[in-house]
Amino acid sequence: MSDTPNSLTIRRPDDWHLHLRDGAMLKAVLPFTARQFGRAIIMPNLKPPVTTVDQAKRYAAEIRDALPEGSTFQPLMTCYLTDGADPDEIARGHEEGVFTAVKLYPAHATTNSAHGVTDLDKVAGVLERMQRIGMPLLVHGEVTDQDVDIFDREAVFIDRVLAPLLKRYPELKVVFEHITTEEAADFVSADASGRLGATITAHHLVINRSHIFAGGIRPHLYCLPIAKRERHRLALRRAATSGAAPFFLGTDSAPHPVTAKESACGCAGVFTAPTAVEVYAQVFAEEGALDRFEAFASLNGPRFYGLDPNPDTITLDRTGQTVPDIVLSADGDAVLPFRSGERLDWRLVPES
Ligand code: DOR
Ligand code: ZN
Repeated sequence: MSDTPNSLTIRRPDDWHLHLRDGAMLKAVLPFTARQFGRAIIMPNLKPPVTTVDQAKRYAAEIRDALPEGSTFQPLMTCYLTDGADPDEIARGHEEGVFTAVKLYPAHATTNSAHGVTDLDKVAGVLERMQRIGMPLLVHGEVTDQDVDIFDREAVFIDRVLAPLLKRYPELKVVFEHITTEEAADFVSADASGRLGATITAHHLVINRSHIFAGGIRPHLYCLPIAKRERHRLALRRAATSGAAPFFLGTDSAPHPVTAKESACGCAGVFTAPTAVEVYAQVFAEEGALDRFEAFASLNGPRFYGLDPNPDTITLDRTGQTVPDIVLSADGDAVLPFRSGERLDWRLVPES
């Protein structure tokens, strides 16, 4: 494409859905995110999950301690919703500026979700309070009924869970996290209220379900929600590159040791953090939509969350780069980045 510019400067983006883990893994993966993003919504699915204000404060302090010298990256903490959650504790965390949002994992939907919600009626008091105080609910949108085909779990979730939830709490702010289907993109587009948003990962813009089985089983492309058919990938690309307000960047970067991925029962999660912003930029360039990249990456998210965009900028150029082969943590774990060892068109220009 001859009219693709050689460099692009945008407001510094944020990552509205990120798994950082803790301990040595946190230290190994955080610098990649801090290099690109001003802020990130930090997922609370640690072992044990982050369910109290004190736990979130301690986790935020651990993240800040692991930041490279001079970094101004800000972790935005979330509370892991459980059946027994206390509305007062959650509201206090929000008021004190500790909890930005609450994460809903339907019980057993994905990695470390065993403590998730078994029945939304059990958390009605929490949801009512969140609605009242304007605290967003971040939803892992898959039904957990094993009788529903894994590729249908997101679309079925819309009808069975999300639409009724939005009806029951008409003012509740909801983010439909890491959407993977045309049905989800259409559902979010159709909501004109402004209180429903959606994050879209970099990898779901690049791979469809066939890639997971290209030449053999590729465990590093397995995540939940699982990548769907090509028509869904194309719908996600249309939604993201539209620049429309409800769609914003959320990598769902989810590092797991290679040994946990390459196993008889491999964990779900794709580790995109090392080159996330560059992978997204390439998608927008391929779609001839670089003029809408800033809206998706840096403006729509803060607007949804009621925050200002980051004050500074980043610059990408078309020098290109090779994705690192492997990332090592200090305790010996190796993690394979998305597109490991491959060439990308774009590079984030390092700060001088
Ligand atoms: O693939 C995933 N990995 N999906 C999730 O929802 C959780 C995440 C993780 O924590 O590894
Ligand atoms: Zn996630």
